[in-house]
Amino acid sequence: MEYQTILVEQRERVGLITLNRPKALNALNDALIDELGAALDSFEADDGIGAIVITGSEKAFAAGADISAMAGWDYVDVYKSDFITRNWERVRRARKPIIAAVAGFALGGGCELAMMCDIIIAADTAKFGQPEVKLGILPGAGGTQRLPRAVGKAKAMDLCLTARFMDATEAEKAGLVSRVVPAERVLEEALGAAQAIASYSLPIVMMIKESINRAYESPLSEGLLFERRVFHAAFSLADKREGMAAFLEKRAAKFSHR
Ligand code: CAA
Repeated sequence: MEYQTILVEQRERVGLITLNRPKALNALNDALIDELGAALDSFEADDGIGAIVITGSEKAFAAGADISAMAGWDYVDVYKSDFITRNWERVRRARKPIIAAVAGFALGGGCELAMMCDIIIAADTAKFGQPEVKLGILPGAGGTQRLPRAVGKAKAMDLCLTARFMDATEAEKAGLVSRVVPAERVLEEALGAAQAIASYSLPIVMMIKESINRAYESPLSEGLLFERRVFHAAFSLADKREGMAAFLEKRAAKFSHR
C-alpha cells in the first residue's frame, strides 16, 4: 500500500511506523490515523512481525489532533463521525506489542497516542502534555483516563488543567515512560527493545500483553484468575517445551512464534 502520511518499513521481525507530516509537526488528521490503522492491520496479519514501533520526528512525535481540521467541526460533525473512537481505537485493539519512541512534542492526541502504546521510550528532548484546555476543548482520545492511571490524579489534573508540558525526566519519574535516552539513540533503543520482544514466542508475548492490560480493567481477584488461565494455557505450547529445554540444555531457545 502507498502511504501519504506515514512511512512503513520492516526491520527484521519489527514493524516500524514513522509518522510523517513534518510541516504540521505530525498533527494527527483522519488520513494519518486511517493509514496508521492500515499499517497496524498488515503488521498484525504478518507472522514475520513480532513487535511494532511507532515514532515521529526529532521535533515532534505528534503535536496533537489536527486543529485546522477540527476548527471547522461542530457537535453534529464529531458526534456523527464518532470522532476519535472511529479510527483511533485501532491502536488500542492491537494484539502485538507496540512501543512508542517519542522525541520532541507529544501533545494532546500525540500524548494520547503514545499512551495507547504498550511501552513509551522517550528521548531526553520529549515533552508530554494535554494542552486541549487552551483550545476550549478537553482531551478526547483517553487523556483524562489513561494519564491518571499512568501518573496519578494530581499530576494528571495539573497537566490537563494548566496545559503545562512535562519533560522526559519528570515523565519517567511519574511512571509514564519506561526509559529515557539521549535523543539520537531513541529509535535505536526502541528498536532494540522491540527486537528483544520479537525474538520471544509470539503467542506468549501476546498473552503477557493481554494479561497486563487486564490489570487495568478488572479487580485483582479477576485479574489473577485471568492470569492463571492464560498461564496454564501456555503449557500447551511447543514454545514452552522449547524454552525450558533450551534452559536445561544451556543453549539459546529457538521459538517457532506459533
Ligand atoms: N494541528 C494542526 N497543525 C499543527 C498542530 C496541530 N495540533 N500543531 C502544530 N501545527 C502546525 C502549526 O500550525 C504550524 O503550521 P504553519 O507552519 O503552517 O503555521 C506548524 O505545525 C509548526 O508549528 P509551530 O509554528 O506552532 O511550532 P512551534 O515550535 O512554535 O510550537 C508547539 C510547537 C508548541 C507544539 C505548537 O505548535 C502547539 O502548541 N501546537 C498545538 C498543540 C496542541 O494544542 N495539541 C492538542 C491538539 S487537540 C487534541 O489533540 C484533541 C485530542 O484530545 C485528540
